[in-house]
Amino acid sequence: MSFLKLALFSFAFSLAALPGLAAPQLRTPSQSFLAQQALDDIASRAAPIAGFDTGCSKTVKTCDWMAQFPDSTKLVHMNLPGTHDTSTWNYTDATQAALLRYTGPLPPPEVFRCQEHSILQSLNEGIRVFDLRVAYNPGNDTLGFHHSDALLSPTTRVEDVFFGLYNWLDNHPTEAVLVSINHESGTGTPEDPKMYELLYNILNAPVAQNYWVQVNGTLGTLGEARGKLTLLQRFSYSLLPSDLTKRIGIPLDPQHWTDNAKIIELVYNVEKNQIAFIEDFYDITASLPLGSGTAAYIEAKFEAVTAHLVNATRTDLNPDQLYITFASAAFIDDNPLVTPENFATGNGTALQGMDQRLLPWLQARKGQRFGIIMFDFYDAIPGLVEAAIGL
Ligand SMILES: *[C@@H]1O[C@H](CO)[C@@H](O)[C@H](O)[C@H]1NC(C)=O
Ligand SMILES: *[C@@H]1O[C@H](CO)[C@@H](O)[C@H](O)[C@H]1NC(C)=O
Ligand SMILES: *[C@@H]1O[C@H](CO)[C@@H](O)[C@H](O)[C@H]1NC(C)=O
Ligand SMILES: *[C@@H]1O[C@H](CO)[C@@H](O)[C@H](O)[C@H]1NC(C)=O
Ligand SMILES: *[C@@H]1O[C@H](CO)[C@@H](O)[C@H](O)[C@H]1NC(C)=O
Repeated sequence: MSFLKLALFSFAFSLAALPGLAAPQLRTPSQSFLAQQALDDIASRAAPIAGFDTGCSKTVKTCDWMAQFPDSTKLVHMNLPGTHDTSTWNYTDATQAALLRYTGPLPPPEVFRCQEHSILQSLNEGIRVFDLRVAYNPGNDTLGFHHSDALLSPTTRVEDVFFGLYNWLDNHPTEAVLVSINHESGTGTPEDPKMYELLYNILNAPVAQNYWVQVNGTLGTLGEARGKLTLLQRFSYSLLPSDLTKRIGIPLDPQHWTDNAKIIELVYNVEKNQIAFIEDFYDITASLPLGSGTAAYIEAKFEAVTAHLVNATRTDLNPDQLYITFASAAFIDDNPLVTPENFATGNGTALQGMDQRLLPWLQARKGQRFGIIMFDFYDAIPGLVEAAIGL
């Protein structure tokens, strides 16, 4: 019986938290049945964000790709493909229409949408970093998923999606998953102490302590991270009551994350001089005037991304520091409209997007360190994830 089932059992029946080591075995088939029902219940509530795990064949290269790397591999030396604005994968016309009563009228969904494969599907396809943006759900008592003013599911709670990740990790114990969390602004919901207390409690619940790497302030080895989630804390706990002191993962404080910058040097551990080098140039109109055209916008983004990636590959520069590169960009309200999907995949066959252009660029540098690359619509270009990993 896995820890997850036991945790679910305790969760479902409000028993006292079961400490991991002293956990009793479930005794009867009926208890096991109830634990499975509880997991199914959470999985269905998580589905609008997590999707469904349709499984993956062990013969598929991306399924358990980390198994081939030794335990001693440092996470900062690895190539980790991720999805930017992960939770938007099902934000279609139909989903937006169904949520109209919460959000009121919004710009078309393709303005917000950055993905088309679910979290569980993308895990099977090799994605190992997720960008989750959270804020209050309608009613304010739980935390859910948003992209700007687009609410993505009114009923899914952050902890529901975590259960989905824990369950996937139980089935893929060689794999390590990084989760970036930030408060999503523009949601119209308050960013207040209560919100951070909710998040703190979710991240420190007994089940979370078993599935999140408990080390604070530094990224360790793959061996330490296997079967677990590692937190990229893209928020500050400054509003949190001062007696809640536990910290896990690495702090990427938004105050030091320069907005819309091509080069960000964010020191996340002063004592150990550990720095995250980040490219997060998402509003291309900061460099080019409106009317420049989709091809010019994509070219400007490609230059910023490849300049950053070149530094990530350089063994003489910062070999032991973290590199994070966003291959994604925000929509541009131009004529024609440029959506995140256009940035990622172009406009059909004539104009190539970031994903088509990065595929040969990455393949030509196979074996080099790229670090974390956050993609939009990664699945549209077969082989992109393998190229980003270096498989
Ligand atoms: C995706 O959105 C459609 C339309 O809103 C909805 O019917 C479907 O249930 C959603 N998928 C999941 C897995 O929630
Ligand atoms: C709940 O959220 C609404 C908007 O989403 C906001 O106006 C209201 O102030 C919030 N209430 C509390 C108690 O946080
Ligand atoms: C966690 O690590 C950060 C970064 O090194 C450090 O600033 C902070 O004091 C640490 N917090 C705790 C509770 O150890
Ligand atoms: C690459 O590294 C060089 C040397 O440190 C630095 O001057 C340059 O700004 C870096 N470029 C990017 C895009 O990070
Ligand atoms: C796609 O972009 C190319 C190059 O900018 C342009 O020539 C072509 O007309 C565009 N196609 C569509 C369908 O917008």
